[in-house]
Amino acid sequence: MQESLRERFFEDGAVLIKGCLNKEQLTRCREVYDWCVENPGPHATSMFDGTVQRSHVDNANANAKARLDDLVASLPLGRMFADLWGSENVWYFAEEVFLKAGGMGSRTLWHQDTSYLPWAGSHWANAWISFESVPRKNALEIIKGSHRGTQYDGTSFRDPNDPTDPLHGGDVLPRLPDIEAEREENPQAYDILSWATEPGDVVILHPHSLHGGAPVDADFPDRHTFVFRFFGDDATYRSLPDSRFTQSGLLFAEQMAALKDGDLFRSPVFRKVI
Ligand SMILES: [Fe+2]
Repeated sequence: MQESLRERFFEDGAVLIKGCLNKEQLTRCREVYDWCVENPGPHATSMFDGTVQRSHVDNANANAKARLDDLVASLPLGRMFADLWGSENVWYFAEEVFLKAGGMGSRTLWHQDTSYLPWAGSHWANAWISFESVPRKNALEIIKGSHRGTQYDGTSFRDPNDPTDPLHGGDVLPRLPDIEAEREENPQAYDILSWATEPGDVVILHPHSLHGGAPVDADFPDRHTFVFRFFGDDATYRSLPDSRFTQSGLLFAEQMAALKDGDLFRSPVFRKVI
């Protein structure tokens, strides 16, 4: 792997890996993706159902775990992350399923995954795999370098008219800035990374990065994206604020209950892929 790619990941928090997966690997990913859409798990949600801002999301579907662990272990992603991070070990956390259909344009609100999940450390990444050719205007957007910046409160995702409605509330974490409102005033307000992609390309982002966007529209009505989340040696447990939201996140609650702040993020539940 090019040293420049490693540097860009650590500096910017996101990189594009061109041609990371071949056709056969993509076909196998798509089979599992379709199974996941047809068999949603307990964490599946449809955001803003009944409004134009609809998008289906699923997360860490326990019923899909065995087939996902096998799939992910057979892909070149584990080796790629070991190289990207310089980590001896790589573990697979879980998947996200994103389906936006019908061309009803809506952005996914800006957020950091670390507002929802008890994660700290530099060896974390989400691999964004879209099955379509995605134009840049419909791509995921990431604020360059934000993975090293402030931990904001999350958005509750409950109010399409208030994109920063706090997830936790209280005064532990600062409220998210209204990034889209600021960009409307000044398009250069933030340094944003995004890429047009072809099937087989993988967008890698650190989950502490501020990210969002990826709308569909009339020109690009449907997007099917599989996200695989990984962690390596430098990954620790860091509890979330004490709020109405759980402090250990909604995923793998039983395993998270065994961890204390600062512990290495480890559990036999997560498949070691390297
Ligand atoms: Fe996210």
